[in-house]
Amino acid sequence: MKILVTGGAGFMGSNMIHYLLKNYNDVEVINFDFLTYAGNLENLSDIQNDPRYRFIKGNIADEKSVDDVVSKGIDLIINYAAETHVDRSIMEPRAFIDTNIYGVYTLLEAVKKYKVPRIIQISTDEVYGAVMEGESDEKSQFEPRSPYSASKAAGDHLCHSYHVTFGVPVIMTHSVNFYGPFQFPEKLIPLFTCNLMDRKKVPVYGDGMQIREWIFTEDHCRAIDLISQKGNVGEAYNIGTGHRVPNLDVTRKLLEMTGCDDSHIEYVKDRVGHDRRYALNSQKLRMELGWEPQTSFDDGLAKTVEWYKTNQSWVNRCRSGEYANYYEKQYIKR
Ligand code: DAU
Repeated sequence: MKILVTGGAGFMGSNMIHYLLKNYNDVEVINFDFLTYAGNLENLSDIQNDPRYRFIKGNIADEKSVDDVVSKGIDLIINYAAETHVDRSIMEPRAFIDTNIYGVYTLLEAVKKYKVPRIIQISTDEVYGAVMEGESDEKSQFEPRSPYSASKAAGDHLCHSYHVTFGVPVIMTHSVNFYGPFQFPEKLIPLFTCNLMDRKKVPVYGDGMQIREWIFTEDHCRAIDLISQKGNVGEAYNIGTGHRVPNLDVTRKLLEMTGCDDSHIEYVKDRVGHDRRYALNSQKLRMELGWEPQTSFDDGLAKTVEWYKTNQSWVNRCRSGEYANYYEKQYIKR
């Protein structure tokens, strides 16, 4: 089976590639990634010589590059390529429109043209907007409130329309907040972990009582694997754990795990338009496909913090931007 993982050098994409190669012998995985600031081939250095794996540098919003890969025959596309950081979307929305909307359109066109049997669009719980009470299920209305979530919602709408209009075999997934090894240190958990390891303060937005639901990366990979094999095309699946906690609780756990205390917290100005709470109903995935999360938040967080502690040099290279040259060093010269 030939699987195209777009955005495979990023946090979730690289975790998915590791998952696929670990669990299946008969796969051929192509990692198609544009290597923006969040894409790091060092995340895949352990498997770069695996004959089942290949890297191609390319942008999902570039028709020619996408055509070149997809025209050679692909059985499954998993689209992780996206601009994902909400704060960046507030500062510079343009890239979010290009990748999360135009990029999705380009992939859908290629799937239509070359009759790819299935494409999984990785999306987010943020398309449902802030949920002050109760939960969002797959039928809840989209109410995105940031340029990031609006761009993801637009991508999802395109997917739905391509299924209805052209019969494109797309499945959309809406996931809660991921965490785990290899996450770029700009998101809450890796940023705070890395700051605390350096005995720096952590910037808690507003009162820190915003609620997020958390999923460990491996649990998410299993969900995507299952959905790609057994999910219904044209439908969406929510992926959530039910583990919903205020940011301050996550912060306090990280303080404890790194041997720091409350004096390391710095309350800073809140994110503009900050969604107060997300909460997903993931019964469809559990009841129809039999998925359950296997890693508790405490275990997942402990594994994550341990990974960052033992991969300090990765963190340093990440923060210095040094790995931007990794591609040239490792690949172009070969
Ligand atoms: O809900 C799924 C989404 O989770 C994904 O679709 C997004 O791609 C991903 O970035 C994430 O969005 P969030 O905005 O929830 O993640 P982030 O790690 O940026 O922030 C988590 C919470 O922590 C949020 O309430 C903002 C807060 N925060 C974040 C940062 C980076 C802080 O208080 N201080 C910070 O420095």
